[in-house]
Amino acid sequence: MYTQAMDIPDPAQPAPATPDLADPAQLARFEAVLSGGGRIEAQDWMPAAYRKTLLRQISQHAHSEIVGMLPEGNWISRAPSLKRKAILIAKVQDEGGHGLYLYGAAETLGARRADLIDALLAGRAKYSSIFNYPTLGWADVGVIGWLVDGAAIMNQIPLCRCSYGPYARAMIRICKEESFHQRQGYEALLVMMRGTGAQRRMVQDAVDRWWWKCLAMFGPPDADSEHGAQSMRWGIKRMGNDELRQKFIDATVPQAQILGVTLPDPQLKWNDERGHYDHGPIDWEEFRSTLAGDGPCNRERIATRAEAHENGRWVREAALAHARKQQQRAQGAGT
Ligand code: 3HC
Repeated sequence: MYTQAMDIPDPAQPAPATPDLADPAQLARFEAVLSGGGRIEAQDWMPAAYRKTLLRQISQHAHSEIVGMLPEGNWISRAPSLKRKAILIAKVQDEGGHGLYLYGAAETLGARRADLIDALLAGRAKYSSIFNYPTLGWADVGVIGWLVDGAAIMNQIPLCRCSYGPYARAMIRICKEESFHQRQGYEALLVMMRGTGAQRRMVQDAVDRWWWKCLAMFGPPDADSEHGAQSMRWGIKRMGNDELRQKFIDATVPQAQILGVTLPDPQLKWNDERGHYDHGPIDWEEFRSTLAGDGPCNRERIATRAEAHENGRWVREAALAHARKQQQRAQGAGT
């Protein structure tokens, strides 16, 4: 789905072998498309390493959207009003939809969705570090919208120009929806900041807990980014991790001032010479340990996903049985 190309590879078949240098003419065409700013489509020849890195990134992104439903989904039954509950339900459903577009984009590369999900549940696939932290209060829901979705948009807008067509097109709709997510979070926080002292303290506490995690979300510094340089050469990523992180900080500081919260970084300071905000050091040790599975909620998140997957088994089986029956009927009618 969401490929806008009907002739996608059969997901039942393994990904076609595309040895990198099999055909210099194909490689030259691929390079020419990239250097001309064009798009590679699902049916086009691509180097195996390009396919592999796309699959890695797109599937991690899909997993992030699906696991990302959990921290906020936790608050649907405790939203403070009907309006906030309706907004939150819509937002969490959107994230589920994003996961589906992205699994669809991964399938155009020859992956099987069931294998991708197995890899997530078995702990072989990554998803965003940010979803391994707990949502302790209602203000966390607003802060996730403002900061987490704000960081996600900053990272994802350049992906609308990704060189792989199905991924780029999926990102356009995702970014539009993320923009609503960011605004609803900011608006919810504005309301709390105009409320009681206790509400303002809740917002500040949530900002203190999420700020540094959001900065780490952009990935390791460029110097330590294993895939960054190659992904930029291929036009998969259009900006480096550090540049996006800086753009996010620069955009967020004025928003924090309007909101009336303090960002928890004593070294955060405008630098006239650079034309950017300077910031303090990010705790990369903590980031690495969260990626390794030792964040506060890693085990809980995967266990919840595994349970949901198991509970949905009968739905998948029923849908497949129905599809098979329809197919048999259609074949019967054709003979
Ligand atoms: N969380 C988990 N893993 C991360 C990470 C993070 N925040 N940042 C980097 N990593 C991982 C990489 O996946 C890579 O691991 P791998 O080799 O096992 O795949 C390793 O750390 C090294 O990092 P690199 O910089 O070399 O990796 P990339 O070049 O792939 O850059 C990225 C990382 C910037 C996250 C890039 O993959 C990307 O832009 N991905 C698409 C966007 C995405 O996945 N966003 C996740 C959040 S989605 C979301 O927030 C949903 C929304 O609704 C809130």
